[in-house]
Amino acid sequence: MSNTIDTGKRRFLTAAASVVGGAGATAVAVPFVSSMLPSAKAEAAGAPVEVDISKLEMGQLLTVEWRGKPVWIFRRSEEALANLEMLGTDSELRDPESEVSSQQPEYCQNDTRAIRDELMVVVGICTHLGCSPTYRPEMAPADLGENWKGGFFCPCHGSRFDLAGRVFQGVPAPTNLVVPPYHFQGDNVVIVGADAEGVA
Ligand code: FES
Repeated sequence: MSNTIDTGKRRFLTAAASVVGGAGATAVAVPFVSSMLPSAKAEAAGAPVEVDISKLEMGQLLTVEWRGKPVWIFRRSEEALANLEMLGTDSELRDPESEVSSQQPEYCQNDTRAIRDELMVVVGICTHLGCSPTYRPEMAPADLGENWKGGFFCPCHGSRFDLAGRVFQGVPAPTNLVVPPYHFQGDNVVIVGADAEGVA
């Protein structure tokens, strides 16, 4: 008789323990899920992306995704900056002064189209029909000609852009590459998708 009672008690305790365990697991899981949902929604709507650039070396290109688009972050050398200056003063570029205001925030309408001269931040999508251009840092490669000083080449229809995303003359792309809103947090963090005032 006592055996039967004990067995019953054990069964009840086991069942109660599983219910408590289940409730505990749910209690842990719910805050996790609810804290994830708003951020997933924000991301789909284009929340800013925080990028650590502390390991980005000279000449290196980093691609991050913002609003489903590739954004290139590139650290320019002194030589690249000198080439940009030279290109800006001759007539090879269609909009050397970045006068088409839709293509960059006002704070990047300058010689390097950037907040910090050495750091390029542009959306890596060709302004012709939306292919993603290829990063071509070499000087004067055979297929791009002896005047090529490093930049981006679109394989779809041959548009060319310099290392500030400025489009060359005589190619199908009508405008410079887009510079997204961005700002810095300290020396090594770029926030892509929001200017210093907030989300654009
Ligand atoms: S999509 Fe880039 S040149 Fe046409």
